[in-house]
Amino acid sequence: MKKVLVAGGAGFLGSHLCDRLLNRADIEKLVVVDNLWTGREENVAHIRDPRFSFVRSDIEEFRTSDKYDEVYHLASPASPPWYMREPKRTISANLIGAFRLLDVLKKGGRFCFTSSSEVYGDPLVSPQPESYKGQVDCTGPRASYDESKRCTESLLFEMQRTQGLDVKIVRPFNVYGPRTRPDDGRAVSNFAAQALTGRPITVFGDGLQSRSWGYVDDIIDGFARFFWMNETDYRGPLNVGNDREISVLEVAQYVSRLAGGAPIVFEPSPPHDPTNRRPDLTNANYVMPEWSCAISYEEGVAKTLEWFREEMNITTAQVDQAGSRRLGKAGR
Ligand SMILES: NC(=O)c1ccc[n+]([C@@H]2O[C@H](COP(=O)([O-])OP(=O)(O)OC[C@H]3O[C@@H](n4cnc5c(N)ncnc54)[C@H](O)[C@@H]3O)[C@@H](O)[C@H]2O)c1
Repeated sequence: MKKVLVAGGAGFLGSHLCDRLLNRADIEKLVVVDNLWTGREENVAHIRDPRFSFVRSDIEEFRTSDKYDEVYHLASPASPPWYMREPKRTISANLIGAFRLLDVLKKGGRFCFTSSSEVYGDPLVSPQPESYKGQVDCTGPRASYDESKRCTESLLFEMQRTQGLDVKIVRPFNVYGPRTRPDDGRAVSNFAAQALTGRPITVFGDGLQSRSWGYVDDIIDGFARFFWMNETDYRGPLNVGNDREISVLEVAQYVSRLAGGAPIVFEPSPPHDPTNRRPDLTNANYVMPEWSCAISYEEGVAKTLEWFREEMNITTAQVDQAGSRRLGKAGR
């Protein structure tokens, strides 16, 4: 029976990963360590499993006498406004967090890390294979995130090379879905929160920049297959994402339609916003041939909007009213 630690488990992806881990019968204890910087205790409040416990702590400061068979390191903000506000804290969460977590890993245990497609920077190659070295500016405003992901990858692969660490590393592309914070600051959650509260949908730049939107259930399924289900010698880095590239504007228009016709306004792009992002899934198809992003963005965005509506206690009638008020305003 295994002891498992999920750092960042009260966050968006971490909480879904915990749900998935708790389906396993070979786990006797699952501890989430999270400082609730960008995560929320509500994300794990539904878990009633006696094997589960929550510790509120910076991962860098976490102390325990236990050693864990599997450690999942997700502790890092993923949204640019959050990590750009606190770069030192972001670097610490990823890198110092990884050092600390290596100390609590049982000898022979497995270390799983969520790196990011941001390691490709603003790519000149599309789609991006894992072998693409990317275009990251180490002095730019996104460097705290991009470079701490790159450096943590280096640390873990070097630990593998010199000490045989059992490591698995994924590079997720854009993920969206239920349990994202309404103030998360990324496109789908922004659009949903804005449209449902009667505000205009804000698109940065001309909206023609593209992303590969992966619905959370598909992405967590990919993590589960790679991290523990499928037998494979491949340690990563492994792209996990949807390879259907959609423009930000198209998603905004779709959310607007679903939410009663919210108007779309354009604002200047944030610094170093990548123009395109699309995973090359050759390796993913090889190590987990039965996996794919099965949920279309139309279905996933509709589900996400529904979750936001419940979360923000907004009834369909209110959304319709917001729509009619807008139509009234437009007519004046
Ligand atoms: N969501 C995406 O689209 C995406 C894409 C690529 C990579 N990732 C990576 O996946 C991981 C999870 O992303 P997410 O979207 O769930 O983000 P999130 O912000 O919802 O979750 C991160 C969690 O880590 C916690 N945390 C941050 N610093 C911590 C620290 N020092 N000590 C303890 N807890 C800390 C936060 O409170 C939060 O609960 C991150 O490592 C992120 O870089 C996410």
